[in-house]
Amino acid sequence: MPLRRKKQAPAAPSTPELKPKGTGSIATLTGSRHAAILGVGAYRPRRIVDNHEICEVLDSSDQWIRERSGIVTRHIAGEGESVIEMSEAAAKGAIEMAGIDPEQIGCVIVATVTHAYQTPAAAPLLAMRIGADTAAAFDISAACAGYCHGVTLASDMIRSGSAEYALVVGVERLSDFTDPTDRGTAFIFADGAGAAVIGPSETEGIGPTIWGSDGAHWDVIAQRDSWIDVRDHDLGWPTIVMQGQTVFRWAVWGMAPVAQRALDAAGITIEDLDAFIPHQANMRIIDAMAKQLKMPEDVVIARDIATTGNTSAASVPLATERLLREGLVPRGGLALQLGFGAGLSYAAQVIRLP
Ligand code: UT7
Repeated sequence: MPLRRKKQAPAAPSTPELKPKGTGSIATLTGSRHAAILGVGAYRPRRIVDNHEICEVLDSSDQWIRERSGIVTRHIAGEGESVIEMSEAAAKGAIEMAGIDPEQIGCVIVATVTHAYQTPAAAPLLAMRIGADTAAAFDISAACAGYCHGVTLASDMIRSGSAEYALVVGVERLSDFTDPTDRGTAFIFADGAGAAVIGPSETEGIGPTIWGSDGAHWDVIAQRDSWIDVRDHDLGWPTIVMQGQTVFRWAVWGMAPVAQRALDAAGITIEDLDAFIPHQANMRIIDAMAKQLKMPEDVVIARDIATTGNTSAASVPLATERLLREGLVPRGGLALQLGFGAGLSYAAQVIRLP
């Protein structure tokens, strides 16, 4: 069969050829050869809520919640514990551990899906509150993978020279966006903030990130209705809803290979790890991933979910801070961190613990 020739587009009217004015080079930045997490901090809201209290309004039981999620208690934010206030407390802890002056922070990244303003972002106000007044500051929305995305951005900035130090905060007040009577989310979501200062390092402190997304499953964890629909159809407060089983299967079968790829990219094996710090989504997911990865007995697995619940973007830094504070992992040890959630989106990297 003869090849059909594509119809030719009509010739464009001739325009004078435009030439760039300058042909010389422009300056490019170069930063530190390596970047590392230099300090972490955390804030857990004062009020601790157990499963019995959750079941005062939710049709569930303490036993079911423990067995299906591993959650025993969680922290729920109250007055004086806004997204900004929790972030500030966590950031101060991270800055103190890093031993830097807040003015040295050139960029503040807040990972959150529960900052209650469409605009402006939480980050500029946080930057001012911590004394990094002129830092570049913006929020990122990658849900439970947000902190690990932020670590990637910060690490790349330090190495390219866009900032000497960067602050990454994962923070959520999920209780504001959770329906206390929804059996799929009410017992799982919780509040808190975790932060990390990332800066220059003489040795590799943050391995290559394996990250990605699956927009075909955009709706499996989502705000129930768009703000426009809420306004136009009087739909009431749009809480976050989740197709639990779909997310569960994706997390268990999809995320262990991502974790393995992060180890491969870092050039280490699972035996080299001191800690595994996955997103604290569900204790059964954590256990299933550890099993699939054939996690050696001596690797400490973060199980912060039992007393912290699922705090989305805050969960990895909260769990990291606890392992360090309780002396369960060595300073300078290697940890594999992995965030995954709404989007769907995910990011994993091997880091050297501060
Ligand atoms: O952070 C972002 C990423 N999120 C996640 O990774 C979460 C992933 N999903 C999960 O963790 C789990 O799907 C949940 C913990 C949310 C739910 O656990 P599940 O084992 O998937 O429960 P299910 O939906 O399969 O329900 C099992 C049974 C059903 O009863 P039958 O049909 O077996 O008789 C439900 O009706 O449990 C029932 N059920 C409940 N019972 C008591 C569902 N929700 C509840 C509840 N309390 N809250």
